[in-house]
Amino acid sequence: MSLPALDKARIPRHLAIIMDGNGRWAERHGMSRAAGHEAGAKSVRAVIKACRELEAVEALSLYAFSTENWRRSRFEVSTLFRLLIKYIAIELDELHEQNIRVTVMGRLEDLPERARQDMREAMEKTAGNTALTVNVALNYGARDEIVRAARAIANEAVAGRLDPKDIDDACFAAHLDQPELPDPDLLIRTSGEMRLSNFMLWQLSYAEIVVLSTLWPDFRKEHLY
Ligand code: FPP
Repeated sequence: MSLPALDKARIPRHLAIIMDGNGRWAERHGMSRAAGHEAGAKSVRAVIKACRELEAVEALSLYAFSTENWRRSRFEVSTLFRLLIKYIAIELDELHEQNIRVTVMGRLEDLPERARQDMREAMEKTAGNTALTVNVALNYGARDEIVRAARAIANEAVAGRLDPKDIDDACFAAHLDQPELPDPDLLIRTSGEMRLSNFMLWQLSYAEIVVLSTLWPDFRKEHLY
């Protein structure tokens, strides 16, 4: 599908996606959950490419691993991190060539060593890129992010570097994980569930929400357009 005639002024600056339905897709195709996640990684590639082509999208936030996802089987958790490591190994050079910056939201320090190192390398390598920011939520929960921001603000106040009178919206937002990104204008959730699942609760305050019945591994640029 070629690029449709979209009104550039109405394209979201920041698009956030809850990528849901890999497991259901796998079940429907008689495949393992791991194969579902593998197929989901192809959709990640497609959606990054489509956002890059649209040009007007400045940031794409992807919910890849939530703080709740640790409750899945050890096998599935390790599959997801193996997939992430493989994805970076295959895609990092091209992301960099495409002038795409990679950032992370969430508690990176608790990730498996290799995944943490690879994500740090991806962030460092692409830090100066400007065409699109791909912001990956990893070991991320919005309540956890908000609590960490509150703690950081409290520590600054106790240390005398911040007057509690100066704590306002902007001050709070500045203590979240990726303060330089604009708030998402649009949230897309695939697979039909009408829930936020602890994703970007502060930043999504004014976002429009689109829930599609499409399962994430079937999501392509047509769905995005
Ligand atoms: C939801 O499907 C998806 C996830 C928990 C993980 C998302 C991960 C990927 C798309 C793979 C790789 C990601 C990157 C950034 C390379 P589900 O398992 O909850 O599906 P279900 O609700 O149908 O069981």
